[in-house]
Amino acid sequence: MGDQSRPMRAVAASVLLAVENGESLSQCLPPALQSLAPNERPVLQALCYGTCRWFHRLDSELNDRLKKPLKKPDRVIHHLMMVALFQLRFSQQANYAVLNESVEACRALDKPHLTGLVNGVLRSAEREGAPEPTTDASRFSHPVWMVKKLRHNWPDNWQQILEANNAQAPMTLRVNALRFSRDEYLALLNEAGIEATATRFAPYGIQLSHPVQVDQLPWFADGAVSVQDEAAQLCTTLLDLAPGQRILDACAAPGGKTCAILENQLELAEVVAIDESAARLPRVQENLDRLDLRASLLQADAANTEQWWDGQPFDRILLDVPCSASGVIRRHPDIKLLRRETDIVPLAAIQLGLLAAMWSVLKPGGRLLYATCSVFPQENHRIIQRFLKKQADAVLATPDVQWGCDMGAGRQLLPDPVSHDGFFYAVLEKPEL
Ligand SMILES: C[S@@+](CC[C@H](N)C(=O)[O-])C[C@H]1O[C@@H](n2cnc3c(N)ncnc32)[C@H](O)[C@@H]1O
Repeated sequence: MGDQSRPMRAVAASVLLAVENGESLSQCLPPALQSLAPNERPVLQALCYGTCRWFHRLDSELNDRLKKPLKKPDRVIHHLMMVALFQLRFSQQANYAVLNESVEACRALDKPHLTGLVNGVLRSAEREGAPEPTTDASRFSHPVWMVKKLRHNWPDNWQQILEANNAQAPMTLRVNALRFSRDEYLALLNEAGIEATATRFAPYGIQLSHPVQVDQLPWFADGAVSVQDEAAQLCTTLLDLAPGQRILDACAAPGGKTCAILENQLELAEVVAIDESAARLPRVQENLDRLDLRASLLQADAANTEQWWDGQPFDRILLDVPCSASGVIRRHPDIKLLRRETDIVPLAAIQLGLLAAMWSVLKPGGRLLYATCSVFPQENHRIIQRFLKKQADAVLATPDVQWGCDMGAGRQLLPDPVSHDGFFYAVLEKPEL
C-alpha cells in the first residue's frame, strides 16, 4: 500500500488482505487513504467498509465460482474480486466499469497471469446474478460462529441483531452542555441546513438524518459537540456525578466517556483517565484539548494497581472494558473478520480481572459502572453475576431507566437499526463502612 500509482480498487484489495491478516480497518485504512487523491478517498472507504460488511455472503459466492482457491501469494486477487462482487451486488457502479477496472487492477497488482480468471469470474457473476444464500451465515453475512452464538444467546432477537449489524449506523452527537443546550444546538444545525433530532434516551444527544464531515458542524473545532453514539452517552446518566468527587475512567481511550463525564459535572475534584495503550492515549488528550477540559492521564494496565494507584480511593469508577465489540459491528464491520470465537473466554477473564482490581480502589459508599459494547452475555451480565458471587460487599443497583432490557444483573441495549448501538451497563455499589 502507499503506492501512488496503484488504482483505487487495487488499494482496496490490499486493505482487505491486511484485514484478513489481522489488521483492523482503523489501522490499515488511514495510510491507504493517504496514498490516494482526496476525491478518491470516500470511495475507497465505502468499498472497504462495504466489502467487509458483506464479506461472508460475497466470500461464499466467490468460493463457489472459483474451481480452486488461489495460491497464498495470489490471495490479494481474491480480495480484488470480492471488491468487484461487492460493487456488482450492492452498488450503482456500471458493471462494465467494474469488470474493466478490476482486470486493470489485477495487472497493477503484478498478477498479469490472473487477468483471465478475474475477467471470467466477474463476467459469469454479472451474467448469472447473485445466488440465493443457502445458509444463515451467508444470508446475514456473518461468521458461522457468531450466528450460532447470537441464536443461542438471543433466541427471540438474533435475526434482528444480525440485520441491525448490517445497517448503516447513524451519526450521533453529544452536545457539550458547558457550551450549548441541546435545543440551542438543534437550532444551530437547523440554520446550517443539517437535519437532526433529539435522541430518545441520552439527554444531550442529537442524531443527524444524514452523516456530515465534522468540520461542517457549527463550532465543532471550538468544542460545541462531540461525535458519540447514544448508548455510549448513557454512561453519565448512571454515574450519579456530584461536586467534589474523584473519578476514575479505567479504560479511557479515545476519551469519549471521559469528556462526557467532565462536561456533565464541572466541579469534580479530579478525573483520572487510564489506558494501557500508548498509541491510543494521545487521542484522549486531543479530545480534552478540543473541549477545553482537564484530566490526569496515565498510561498503565489498570488491573495492576500497584503500578499506578496513589492510595486515594475513587468515588466513582467507569470501567469500559475491552470486549468483543459485537454491539458495534455496524460501525466496525471488520470485526466480523477479526474476531474469533476463541477470543471470548480470554476477554471474559480480562474483564473479570479488571472488575476485581477496580473494586479494590473504589471508596466505601462509591459506585462502579461496568460497560461493554458487546451483546454477548459472557462479557456482560454473566461477568457481573460471577463477580457478585465472589465479592460479598458488592451490591447491584437497579437504575430506573426506560432503555434496554433488564438482564437481572445489568441492562442490555441491542443495536437498533435506527438509533443506538448495542451496549451493556451494570451499576455496582460498595456499602459505607
Ligand atoms: C472500549 S475501549 C474504551 C473506550 C472509551 N471508554 C471511550 O468511551 O472513548 C477499551 C480501552 O481499554 C484499553 N485497555 C485494555 N486493557 C486495559 C487495561 N488492562 N488497562 C487499561 N486500559 C486497557 C484499550 O486500550 C482501549 O482503549
